[in-house]
Amino acid sequence: MSWDFLLLLLALFALLAFVVQLLRFLRADGDLTLLWAEWQGRRPEWELTDMVVWVTGASSGIGEELAYQLSKLGVSLVLSARRVQELERVKRRCLENGNLKGKDILVLPLDLTDISSHEVATKTVLQEFGKIDILVNNGGRSQRSLCVETSLDVYKELIKLNYLGTVSLTMCVLPHMIERKQGKIVTVNSFTGIVSVPLSSGYCASKHALRGFFNSLRAELFEYPGIVVSNIFPGPVQSNIVKNALTNDVTQSVGSDPDQPNKMATSRCARLMLVSMANDLKEVWIGEQPFLLVAYLWQYMPTWGMWLMNILGKKIIKNFKGGLGTFSYANTWRTKHD
Ligand SMILES: NC(=O)c1ccc[n+]([C@@H]2O[C@H](COP(=O)([O-])OP(=O)(O)OC[C@H]3O[C@@H](n4cnc5c(N)ncnc54)[C@H](OP(=O)(O)O)[C@@H]3O)[C@@H](O)[C@H]2O)c1
Repeated sequence: MSWDFLLLLLALFALLAFVVQLLRFLRADGDLTLLWAEWQGRRPEWELTDMVVWVTGASSGIGEELAYQLSKLGVSLVLSARRVQELERVKRRCLENGNLKGKDILVLPLDLTDISSHEVATKTVLQEFGKIDILVNNGGRSQRSLCVETSLDVYKELIKLNYLGTVSLTMCVLPHMIERKQGKIVTVNSFTGIVSVPLSSGYCASKHALRGFFNSLRAELFEYPGIVVSNIFPGPVQSNIVKNALTNDVTQSVGSDPDQPNKMATSRCARLMLVSMANDLKEVWIGEQPFLLVAYLWQYMPTWGMWLMNILGKKIIKNFKGGLGTFSYANTWRTKHD
């Protein structure tokens, strides 16, 4: 066999590998490390059983769905949010469909902005279950308003809830994990913690702040390899996040979201979160195309990412100002191509 033929064969193989990766990426709904872990990695059904998992924001959306999927794995669950009735509803469904007994689920009302209550809440969980294996920092709120029209109170609220509330609860749980030299701190961030989008300046700021905080914390915990700090970055997912988003006035929320069908199914997002927990992935991107592509572009080619966001941003803001009710980024992308 001649060298020329061998080189040609090698080039063809490289081209084929590139095309396969490209096709995988175009069909991907998560970053490629995550999808590899889903295919070849440890399964949540093997890894997470018997753990004590505390989920904030468990009364709705991603946290609620995560609770249902966790309940099937035989974990002990702590469900937290402000609305007790909703938490009780989630608990009932966990008991109906899951693999748990009543004593394995603790409904623990918690307001993330009431920082003074976090220490007592943590003690309550430890008294009930004796340990916390996983803290899922999921509770949060978004925003839809133009920066120049937005009251400073909105920014204060978003930082207080999404950033300080999450940091505070983590700081309460951390000494326990350090004592045990093990634990997982899983924080639900957002693509807006990577990509800055219009109409969500305060939300983006709070999620960027979370990314900075938890990446620093991970580096400081180098002496405790058993403590895993994971940041999960979802794109648009079906939930009440847009309905509950703050507007330019801290007392008002958007109130509706006509765009649910264009978003990723909540069950898929929750499943991929379980895969990341089982495989101790540190940075996880969960989202469908074209959002995933935008995140990759923004991260690795920021100039192009910002150029694209300026184009999309014009449409998002035009729709917003025109009162078209297009509060959702998923919908904006879709109408662009209709
Ligand atoms: N859905 C998406 O497209 C998307 C994309 C990226 C990131 N995320 C992130 O995913 C997380 C979950 O949101 P979601 O999409 O599931 O929205 P959701 O359906 O609105 O759920 C938000 C949860 O946060 C809780 N919460 C709100 N304010 C709280 C407070 N002051 N104290 C304690 N809990 C509070 C809510 O419960 P109560 O009202 O009962 O307190 C609710 O359980 C958020 O961190 C969000 O930023 C969502």
